[in-house]
Amino acid sequence: MAFPKQVRLVEMSPRDGLQNEPGPVIATAIKTGLIDRLADSGLSHIEAASFVSPKWVPQMGDAAEVMASINRKAGVRYSALTPNLKGFEGALAAKADEVAVFGAASESFTKKNINCTIAESLERFAPVVEEARKHGIPVRGYVSTVMGCPYEGDIAPEQVATVAKALYDMGCHEISLGDTIGVGTPLKAKRMLEAVAAHVPMEKLAAHFHDTYGQALANLYAVLEEGVSVIDASVAGLGGCPYAKGASGNVATEDVLYLLNGLGIETGVDLEKLVATGDWICNQLNRHNGSKVGQTTDCQAGS
Ligand code: HMG
Ligand code: MG
Repeated sequence: MAFPKQVRLVEMSPRDGLQNEPGPVIATAIKTGLIDRLADSGLSHIEAASFVSPKWVPQMGDAAEVMASINRKAGVRYSALTPNLKGFEGALAAKADEVAVFGAASESFTKKNINCTIAESLERFAPVVEEARKHGIPVRGYVSTVMGCPYEGDIAPEQVATVAKALYDMGCHEISLGDTIGVGTPLKAKRMLEAVAAHVPMEKLAAHFHDTYGQALANLYAVLEEGVSVIDASVAGLGGCPYAKGASGNVATEDVLYLLNGLGIETGVDLEKLVATGDWICNQLNRHNGSKVGQTTDCQAGS
């Protein structure tokens, strides 16, 4: 299989990146400053906020204010997580361009993350998808723990395929496959993807890989070879998951872009602006920059 000609990068840092940030709640103006800079770098799809319980994820408690304060750029899709109808109503009022439901292939992770079983989660998501359809809002579906669970260990690819298919059949337009704790390796990634692609078209799949063991870029290369053309990433490698202890952030967007540039794959994103954005947010948060490309002083576009 040849590499795709184009890849859509879905930027996770305002949501997956910031949801787990320790310390006081980050000011709304920093969140919107980040989102506006990301849009200015050419990213066309940004997960901007999360309409979840602020008791569960305090950093996302200002989702409505964030959505109201960003400078919306034409052609950019600003999406938000919505675990249930209450979340969907918030996202609808905030004019999210896309919403996302999030389940998992592991029962234990589902319980820890959204306090229900996999079957109950699907029952909860169905009315969200139904309401979204009425309003013409596309719904993304996440499957977490696709290559391993912090509580159950190995996860069978068929288990991932079952949940992915259920979300796709429900009406999710895209299924994002989350290596939540970054334990995958390339062959495992390929096997998992093949199992899912037997039920969901390849062009409807996205790779959402965390980089805990430093394997995310290798895993992305493996799934790009299989034809995946949507990649989730987080500038400066920001993030983690509050219900997956020890997990590091998504693979850094700068590093993914450098890889894609080198493969001649189009994204429409400007690496220099992206690196500047990664620097900016790390300075704001007084945080280490988790992007290798972001750490180099002599930034090249990749060739
Ligand atoms: P629950 O406690 O079972 O919910 O939580 P409930 O329906 O019993 O409600 C309890 C309280 O929460 C009530 O308030 C509700 O109103 C409120 P109270 O009466 O106690 O004052 N509530 C809400 N408030 C705001 N927004 C809402 C909402 N829903 C209920 N939408 C719930 C269930 C799903 C709400 C909770 O478990 C939750 O918010 N979980 C969020 C977990 C989360 O955000 N995790 C991180 C994102 S997932 C991720 O990072 C993985 C991903 O990146 C992919 C990967 O890497 O694998 C996507
Ligand atoms: Mg994630």
